[in-house]
Amino acid sequence: MPGTPNDEEALRARAEELLAAMTPAEKAGQLTQYFFFSLPEGAEADPALGLDPAAQPREVQAALERGEVGSLLFVTDPARINELQRRAVEGSRQGVPLLFGFDVVHGLRTILPVPIAMAASWDPEVIARGQSVAAREARAVGIHWTFAPMVDIARDPRWGRMIEGAGEDPFLGAAVAAAQVRGFQGDVLGAAEHVIAGPKHFAGYGYAVGGRDYDEVNLADAELWNTVLPPFKAAIEAGAGTVMTAYMDLNGIPATANAWLFTEVLRSVWGFEGFVVSDANAVRNLTTHGFAPDLTSAGARALAAGTDMEMAITDPAFAHLPEALDGGRVETAALDAAVRRVLRAKLRLGLLDDPYVDEARAREVLADPQHREIARIAAERAAVLLKNDDDLLPLDRGALESLAVIGPLAASKRDTLGPWVFDFDLGETVPVLDGIRRHVGDAVRVEYAQGVPVVQRTFPSMFDMFGGNRPEDPEGFDPGTAFDEAVRIAREADVAVVVLGEWQNMIGEAASRSSLHLPGRQLELLQAVVATGTPTVALVMNGRPLDLRWAAEHVPAILDIWYPGTQGGAAVANLLFGEVAPAGRLPFSWPRTVGQVPMFYSHTRSHEPENQQRRYWDEASTPLFPFGHGLGYGRFTYGGLTVDRSSVPLDGTVTVAVEVTNTGDREGDEVVQLYLHQRSGTASRPVRELKGFRRVPIAAGATERVEFEVGPDARRYWNAAARDWVLDPSPFDVWVGGDSTAELGTSFDVIA
Ligand code: NOJ
Repeated sequence: MPGTPNDEEALRARAEELLAAMTPAEKAGQLTQYFFFSLPEGAEADPALGLDPAAQPREVQAALERGEVGSLLFVTDPARINELQRRAVEGSRQGVPLLFGFDVVHGLRTILPVPIAMAASWDPEVIARGQSVAAREARAVGIHWTFAPMVDIARDPRWGRMIEGAGEDPFLGAAVAAAQVRGFQGDVLGAAEHVIAGPKHFAGYGYAVGGRDYDEVNLADAELWNTVLPPFKAAIEAGAGTVMTAYMDLNGIPATANAWLFTEVLRSVWGFEGFVVSDANAVRNLTTHGFAPDLTSAGARALAAGTDMEMAITDPAFAHLPEALDGGRVETAALDAAVRRVLRAKLRLGLLDDPYVDEARAREVLADPQHREIARIAAERAAVLLKNDDDLLPLDRGALESLAVIGPLAASKRDTLGPWVFDFDLGETVPVLDGIRRHVGDAVRVEYAQGVPVVQRTFPSMFDMFGGNRPEDPEGFDPGTAFDEAVRIAREADVAVVVLGEWQNMIGEAASRSSLHLPGRQLELLQAVVATGTPTVALVMNGRPLDLRWAAEHVPAILDIWYPGTQGGAAVANLLFGEVAPAGRLPFSWPRTVGQVPMFYSHTRSHEPENQQRRYWDEASTPLFPFGHGLGYGRFTYGGLTVDRSSVPLDGTVTVAVEVTNTGDREGDEVVQLYLHQRSGTASRPVRELKGFRRVPIAAGATERVEFEVGPDARRYWNAAARDWVLDPSPFDVWVGGDSTAELGTSFDVIA
């Protein structure tokens, strides 16, 4: 059947047929994606978005009738999707169906932990399963394509979008990127119950100067090739069907019109065959950048650079492509190549044969309880136990009479879900307080106090127009008495659980911060609770490292629960009471203070390594918690580290083996990590780099042998002097352990 993923030739022929019948305006239309917003009732549009909710549907509908829309985003109601699809199919001359895209970042209705949390699971399988649930729900309502995963490396936590990625490391980032693409897309592009993935933002967006969202990025080639590009490459190798451009200037050229990125790296070097979409309004904004003099030039230059589709909030630059064609600023071949890519995606999805979605089936799929189950497991696997003095955790339910749960975030359903979600169901969302109450039932008295008022950002978030996104104190909240009330219930309880962090609209897009302090009076509240002498557990809700210096010194147990999603509270209760053991690991180095950022473990050695730890006279230059850190309820020891060969040729592979023993008295997972260091060569190489990891369940008292292959791919790097990839002969150090400070090491030689 034409249009099925297997019949490549028939699919190409059909695309050619469609293309041949199109006018230049229709072709440009196929390359245009419009926002199509219906704001929740009573919601007000944000003028900063340039969005007039009344005018915008009129603009889109007129374009639909002309057959000049290729895709829409932000529609999630299956009935509405069918209605709009019908207009495209039945109401336009060519009748080419629309692609519906959406930011399904960490779930549609069932919300998974935020992406940085999923990365903290160091568990590609759970990540893939989670995103396949997201894909299933999305496809059921008629969405064909997600603008995810975000695979931007982030080393500066001031940048709010760090939450959407996998942290600082290219190796972990590549594994997480590939797992997400597998989860979203399934085995083949166009697979049933899956969506097309769109890794973003190509490339370098995480390096915005000062951590200020959208600001320029200046990145040397070595940093690009060795650190920034590997997760993209992994996503492409996993089969990602689209790629999204980035907003900012990369080395002085706006990424959206950067031919080197799209034509050279993506298509020539990596052989990418899918299509490239711009970020929202990024083609138009080439004029704002001071790059293109007008919209015609903006459209022509973006297309020539390799951006196939323009994502437009309104008034697209690509509408001027026919004019650019007439003026010789765009070549027909370039326009046709882009249209072909978009048509092929539609054909692979089978849209030409069956463009509509089954509305009744959508309801069934969304209600599937299995989805909530996977969200809970993901939240359990993502949590990172940062500290656990004297094994305060897990709590012994039998020995507890009372528990104080404290802090506004403990009871906030919306914040439990994190940013970048729109179609969630608050009714089925379990915040920490509810999760704990359900878990202990009547056996333990659980008292709750908010303690401090919610904190607002100093200027509104662009997402505030979506209902419930601005935090509010509950009716009757009295800031005058709330603090003392929280301290009182802490004093009277056997254990206090304080939930701290950032409100979800403080992180994400357009949510950079100049400090990492806990917003509002949360630290003061924590200090007052600890001062009661009641054993205290801090639960941190965050998508970036926060300043936890005081907590790290004075609070016995700290569990990072991130924004854990729909089943967050249930997962947290299971972790607190030891139904499951935490085994997540930090996907970033946790700085002590914002003054240390950017901070990452894989820096080079410098001429003065002995002083490495004393770079600042007023603060240590070590992180508060290292990359890869995370405790469990078991105890793991490492031994018997071996390499199977002491020397190998340049293209040789060494097998590294280690034995990990769980010396504790309960089963748990350990994330075994391998780090590599090249001692000398034609460039200085990082002190260590992650080159292997495995999350392994180990029974109490058992020993597991774990093996890693360290081949040429693990040692090859892009060298600024050679301006090419190189493999150097050198002695190599290897460490294996539970975080990036692992001390158990050995070495081998690579000889020319
Ligand atoms: C802008 C963001 O940068 C991008 O990540 C997102 O996919 C689009 N808006 C669409 O919402």
